[in-house]
Amino acid sequence: MAKVLVLGGGYFIGRWIADELIGRGHQVFVLSRGSSQGRHPEGAVHLGADRTDRRQMEEALAGREFDLVVEVSWLGAAATRLAMELLAGRVRGWLFVSSAAVYAPAEILPYRPGSPLLCELYPSPTPATQYGWEKGVAEGAVARAAEKTGFAWAAVRPFYVYGEGNNLDRESYLMDRVLEGGPLLIPGSGEGILHLGHIEDLARLAAGLGELLLSDPSRASGRAINFGGPELVTVEGLYRVIEEVVGAKPGDLERVHFDPREVRDYRRFFPFRYRHFFGSLEELLELGLYPRIGLREGMERTWRWWQVKRRGMRRDFSSEEELVRRLTGRDRSP
Ligand SMILES: NC(=O)c1ccc[n+]([C@@H]2O[C@H](COP(=O)([O-])OP(=O)(O)OC[C@H]3O[C@@H](n4cnc5c(N)ncnc54)[C@H](OP(=O)(O)O)[C@@H]3O)[C@@H](O)[C@H]2O)c1
Repeated sequence: MAKVLVLGGGYFIGRWIADELIGRGHQVFVLSRGSSQGRHPEGAVHLGADRTDRRQMEEALAGREFDLVVEVSWLGAAATRLAMELLAGRVRGWLFVSSAAVYAPAEILPYRPGSPLLCELYPSPTPATQYGWEKGVAEGAVARAAEKTGFAWAAVRPFYVYGEGNNLDRESYLMDRVLEGGPLLIPGSGEGILHLGHIEDLARLAAGLGELLLSDPSRASGRAINFGGPELVTVEGLYRVIEEVVGAKPGDLERVHFDPREVRDYRRFFPFRYRHFFGSLEELLELGLYPRIGLREGMERTWRWWQVKRRGMRRDFSSEEELVRRLTGRDRSP
């Protein structure tokens, strides 16, 4: 049994990872400010602190030692450095939940762990690249601290994570569009390729990789590893899977295509990036941590959860209707 500190743990990804670790018999501590406390997994010990506040972090971590830290909550690279500084010499492994947003947009795909990162190519970020650029900087900080203080480390780079409990309105938004009867707003031709991975596979990967960092560091340490599901899907394909699980005939609902370059905040209407975004999973195969949950099964499970969660909810689709009117030049109102 390992003593594991999960930084985060109250929303979606951290909560699933903490649950998985508890299920495997580890002693789990979760650190958050506390507003999400009611949602922390049963069996975890809660440490209350704001990760951006040095004094609170010092108090919460004083005199504590952990075998493994799983860093899930994202408060910027400075908060990553602060946590590592305060735990220096008192932790054996660090698993950093990074993001595939670290990759600089590329023409040759898939993205691989060795593909160029935004922070390697550009000295500073733009507002659009800030998140991925800084995640890359934080990965580098973890690698350097690991070398200096001698702990094992790995970074996991998920593409899109979906599933039961998702607090980001992505697949749930698409499901509601289908329930509404469309029209479905499709960026470009709908042939863009996406990589979605189910949260249960990510939780299994994080727990398994964390265990490997402790039991076999020479095999697992010093690596950045992509995470996604076993399948890739086009935008059109994603809508078809969702139509199917929601109970509509795939392809039946009207599609209205739009040019994301001409629609401000286009991700309000399709909450994924408008570019091919998928990675190689060779490392997962090699480590025996390959994902198991296919898109159809994962979306069915998510739909079962979302049907209950959305009960009584009414969405305002007036912006979507306005966009459809603008794109088609027709008025849908009776
Ligand atoms: N969703 C995706 O598709 C995707 C893809 C790639 C990477 N990621 C990564 O996944 C991570 C996010 O996952 P999640 O939100 O589901 O994780 P989570 O660990 O379940 O939730 C975030 C936790 O952070 C805590 N928190 C927020 N602000 C804090 C602060 N100032 N100090 C201390 N704790 C704080 C929250 O609790 P309190 O509010 O109580 O403090 C909550 O417990 C990020 O690292 C993100 O980059 C996600």
